[in-house]
Amino acid sequence: MSDTSLEFAVPLEDIPETAVIQSRLPVYTAQQRKEKIARIKHLLKQENAVLIAHYYTHETLQKIAEETGGYVSDSLEMARFGSRHEATTLVVAGVRFMGETAKILNPEKRVLMPTLQATCSLDLGCPAREFSEFCDRHPNHEVVVYANTSAEVKARADWVVTSSIAVKVISHLMDQDKNIIWAPDRHLGRYIEKVTGASMISWQGACVVHEEFKARALGDLIAQYPDAGILVHPESPEAVIEAADVVGSTTALIQAAKELPHRAFIVATDNRIFYKMKKAAPDKTFIEAPTAGEGATCKSCAHCPWMAMNGLHNLEAVLESGDNEIFVDEEIRRKAHRSTRRMLEFIAH
Ligand code: 13P
Ligand code: SF4
Repeated sequence: MSDTSLEFAVPLEDIPETAVIQSRLPVYTAQQRKEKIARIKHLLKQENAVLIAHYYTHETLQKIAEETGGYVSDSLEMARFGSRHEATTLVVAGVRFMGETAKILNPEKRVLMPTLQATCSLDLGCPAREFSEFCDRHPNHEVVVYANTSAEVKARADWVVTSSIAVKVISHLMDQDKNIIWAPDRHLGRYIEKVTGASMISWQGACVVHEEFKARALGDLIAQYPDAGILVHPESPEAVIEAADVVGSTTALIQAAKELPHRAFIVATDNRIFYKMKKAAPDKTFIEAPTAGEGATCKSCAHCPWMAMNGLHNLEAVLESGDNEIFVDEEIRRKAHRSTRRMLEFIAH
């Protein structure tokens, strides 16, 4: 069920184009890159800092995280790693909600991000005041929000979930006969409803990157590669999800690439995930799901423009300067901590 009276559409002109973002990144010679990477590694050590990167960031950043005792993962495991690591500074390469989640869970640690401009269309499309009014209009509902939201929205929620745990939490709430508000991703919401049989009141947000995957063009690609497995992130449109062999979080998709018997996969999520997929299954072939075709705008072309803002230049700069620290108002943090912590405790049981 959706309540469309409070949809909040992000104007298309507010969405940066990935290619434009990438064209603005500094270009380095091989020697300069080597020096920057060495300097970043040195600064991480000097600052007692650890780099936590999402799978959608550039593979150079993923490699630095791997080589320095940091971590590369989905949004859930990024949050968990930051809490268990002893570093006093967490450097989060990803988008803003990931840095905020790190701060919500670790108020005593310094959380830095290469850029504070890196947001997420789901976060942008669910402003806290409008969302709170939306919840007020539907009392007696358990409010479940996706991690891709601001600290304020998390503070208004009873539960925070990521794509890797959403189905289990909603099933758990259904067992308790709860009425549920879901926000903000409509495609993930519909997918959860389909799997669990839940009927939720859903906010109508979307990920601009996954929305670009096109079902008809995917059908043509499947005809071309009939033996390929189809891996789809649940932020994708319903018709794309229907074509999938596996629907899951970024970690679940990497796992599937490794475990399924297929020799090739068509992948409907950010293409930077291919770095880890190729590591997990080096002898397999990975093909990007199509973002072109009828009605295509292809502003992101299978790579999140905000994830693309993370680079060597701003990672080095933030470690040098200590700028771009994440701060969350303490009252909001405490409320957001309760709903986020709940998810972590749920997983632990
Ligand atoms: P995961 O939690 O699956 O990493 O997803 C985060 C995200 O932003 C996907 O677009
Ligand atoms: Fe947000 Fe989509 Fe980018 Fe993920 S890929 S961070 S959901 S805009």
